[in-house]
Amino acid sequence: MEKNFFELVEKRRSCRKFSEQKPDRAVIEQIMEATLTAPSSKNTRTSRFLVIDDPKTIARMSEMRDYGSAFMVGAPVVVLVMGVKSATDLWEINCAISATYIQLAAEAVGLGSCWVHVGGRPRLKDEPQGEQAEEYLRTFLPIPEECGVVCAVALGYSGYDGERAKPILNNDGMVRYL
Ligand SMILES: Cc1cc2nc3c(=O)[nH]c(=O)nc-3n(C[C@H](O)[C@H](O)[C@H](O)COP(=O)(O)O)c2cc1C
Repeated sequence: MEKNFFELVEKRRSCRKFSEQKPDRAVIEQIMEATLTAPSSKNTRTSRFLVIDDPKTIARMSEMRDYGSAFMVGAPVVVLVMGVKSATDLWEINCAISATYIQLAAEAVGLGSCWVHVGGRPRLKDEPQGEQAEEYLRTFLPIPEECGVVCAVALGYSGYDGERAKPILNNDGMVRYL
């Protein structure tokens, strides 16, 4: 089941459709243990996580934006990725690395995942100055005062039929070897 690094980056695709099978707590713990080893600016280790598996709470979370978050309702587990803002100005970058670790570790244990952005995003696409997704989440989740929220990562076994082919990527000019 476990894949080597190159296999897993080749296989990973954002997963927005999940089977009803709930991942064991031990599998989620393995992912989170790996995530805690992620590098961080000056080893500040500012990332914090809320692991949510209550379907009603996940359903409420899926309504945080009117674009790009509705699919979360079908996810058996969602990890909210937060960071302590006072410890470093790079807390959001630390969070992004943490979220990436979650996604790669998930792939390694056979789970699909998708990043759902929170930070700086309004609930309604057409009302950028209106209520923010993060403000909404704070009304029902125990998000520490000192933390900002970067994203949620939806996790679960894939609900797609069979393997999904990776799209052919045009990488022309993205890397120059000098
Ligand atoms: C910073 C960031 C924000 C993203 N936000 C969302 C999101 O809000 N909703 C969503 O469905 N996917 C989101 N994604 C997933 C991307 O759409 C996806 O990674 C991209 O289309 C490439 O597809 P792949 O992950 O299958 O390679 C986000 C990914 C990143 C890295």
